[in-house]
Amino acid sequence: MTSAPVPEWLTTATMEIEGSLREASNLTLRVQFGDSDQERVPTKAVYKPIQGEQPLDDFPEGTLAGREVTAYLVSEWGGWGLVPPTILRDGPLGLGSVQIWVEVDESLAGPASGLLDVFPPEGLEEGWLPLVQAQGPQGEPLVVAHADHAQLASLAVLDAVLNNADRKAAHIALDPRGRLWGFDHGLCAHDEPKLRSVLWGWAGQKITDADVARLQKLHDHLNDGGRRELLTYLDEAEVEELAVRADLLLSDPVYPALPTDRYPLPWPLW
Ligand SMILES: Nc1ncnc2c1ncn2[C@@H]1O[C@H](COP(=O)(O)OP(=O)(O)O)[C@@H](O)[C@H]1O
Ligand SMILES: [Mg+2]
Repeated sequence: MTSAPVPEWLTTATMEIEGSLREASNLTLRVQFGDSDQERVPTKAVYKPIQGEQPLDDFPEGTLAGREVTAYLVSEWGGWGLVPPTILRDGPLGLGSVQIWVEVDESLAGPASGLLDVFPPEGLEEGWLPLVQAQGPQGEPLVVAHADHAQLASLAVLDAVLNNADRKAAHIALDPRGRLWGFDHGLCAHDEPKLRSVLWGWAGQKITDADVARLQKLHDHLNDGGRRELLTYLDEAEVEELAVRADLLLSDPVYPALPTDRYPLPWPLW
């Protein structure tokens, strides 16, 4: 058994569409579980039907839902616990990814989250790592920075293994207990390097022992049936490259350096 555990009801409960999450090119719906016992928490999920995926230039058509599940499995197999339970299942608009909705602390989401923020160049505070220089509306110089935060540093390691091409601030949140979650992993696990992230502050630095241990656990699991399982969601080259990235990070446990041959940031940053 290689699968990461998901609650049994997640695979069977009926889903009612509440609404669309945004005007995004891909269809992202919030659903409520219909036939559930009233006590059950959580009661909502994000449902991304494959038939609602729009063709992209750089990712094969109809594969985004499988990438969402891949991110959950990899996060669980390594023991990161940074991605809410995510499965592929049938829903009102056909097969798609279904991810448990996490009630996040809205005051801890978005630009003022304490995770990604903007500072005047001379005002960068202790505990913040600069990401990029920017300009304000009047042309004044600014620095965008992310927090030097332990769970965020672990998320950056997970992103490096996943080759996440879309780690923006909107895809990071803290729940009311202070637990960090990553969302929207539809653009992960391409077989070419595509890491686009707002978390470059540790580039070239040593990965902590705790995250090296997670990489080792993931490596072991991939070689113990995990690769085979991922073939349900990714193609062969993508599975192979994911395993290669885990091995490379293990043999040289430092955060990836900023690329010089491609743009390293998501758009928009938030
Ligand atoms: N499982 C989740 N729990 C709580 N909030 C989520 C979850 N998944 C996504 N969100 C929120 O919904 C927003 C839109 O979802 P996302 O997966 O990014 O969809 P899209 O593909 O449309 O960008 C995210 O930016 C995040 O704020
Ligand atoms: Mg998104």
